[in-house]
Amino acid sequence: MLLDGQVAIVTGGGRGIGRAIARKFAAEGAAVALAARSDNELREAVAEIRNAGGRAVAVPADLARETDCDKIVKAARDAFGAIHILVNNAGIYGPVRMIEAIAPRDWDEVLAINLRAPYLLCRLVLPEMYQRKSGSILNISSVAAKAAFPMNGPYTASKAGLLGLTRTLAAEAAPAGVRVNAICPGPVTETRMSQELTRAFADYFHSAGDEVLNRMLENILQRRPQTAEEVASAALFLASDQASAITGQTLNVDGGMAFC
Ligand SMILES: NC(=O)c1ccc[n+]([C@@H]2O[C@H](COP(=O)([O-])OP(=O)(O)OC[C@H]3O[C@@H](n4cnc5c(N)ncnc54)[C@H](OP(=O)(O)O)[C@@H]3O)[C@@H](O)[C@H]2O)c1
Repeated sequence: MLLDGQVAIVTGGGRGIGRAIARKFAAEGAAVALAARSDNELREAVAEIRNAGGRAVAVPADLARETDCDKIVKAARDAFGAIHILVNNAGIYGPVRMIEAIAPRDWDEVLAINLRAPYLLCRLVLPEMYQRKSGSILNISSVAAKAAFPMNGPYTASKAGLLGLTRTLAAEAAPAGVRVNAICPGPVTETRMSQELTRAFADYFHSAGDEVLNRMLENILQRRPQTAEEVASAALFLASDQASAITGQTLNVDGGMAFC
């Protein structure tokens, strides 16, 4: 198993991409600590993993709060004794509006969850990883960080910032044996974020959701959305020793949409 004996924190592990990552990591031998706000979703995800023979704990937490980030790391250590892998997956899309219509508090909320929380969690887990001279951090960014879509200013800024943070962290952590990478998924249409977004764009353009989505899919080489499972497979590769020579990189899991 690729992650035997490892302990991973997966933020946003209650549903969507984070849940698929947590499930896959657990199936490969990792003990996983799942963090999100929705207790019911966390409990379901943990039960699913335990029923399959894996080890998991739920940590209800709001990543916008610094004290909750402390709580997540403490809960993972209390449950499993160490942290070897951190997956900063939790995210919100935020307002689907033009920049001039976005309220500063909405901007701050997106940045707090999508960019500040990964920084807060990294600063909490890195000392332990440095001491052990190993560890892997994975940041879930987005193809939005590499493209030019309208009406997602704070989201894109946060996801592009996350790529910058990935590179800085990789440079700082490499001498201590810790790897830091990012994934940029394309549209993963099965998740709540993606479905809410399709509806918001459809409302804005006064068109059917399918039309908006199909226009986007036409710009993907594979002409199809990606799945949470496909993103989780890439996450497993990058988090595991299979990617031992890979750090500071971004892997686009987008069916051929971005080429940088
Ligand atoms: N779906 C896509 O098309 C797509 C494409 C590119 C990148 N991504 C990225 O992939 C990641 C996962 O997205 P998804 O599509 O799986 O979305 P999702 O189904 O909406 O899941 C988001 C997860 O993040 C958690 N979360 C949100 N705000 C939080 C907060 N303040 N504190 C703690 N947890 C919080 C949510 O739980 P609670 O709401 O219960 O807190 C949920 O578990 C995100 O970073 C997203 O930007 C998604």
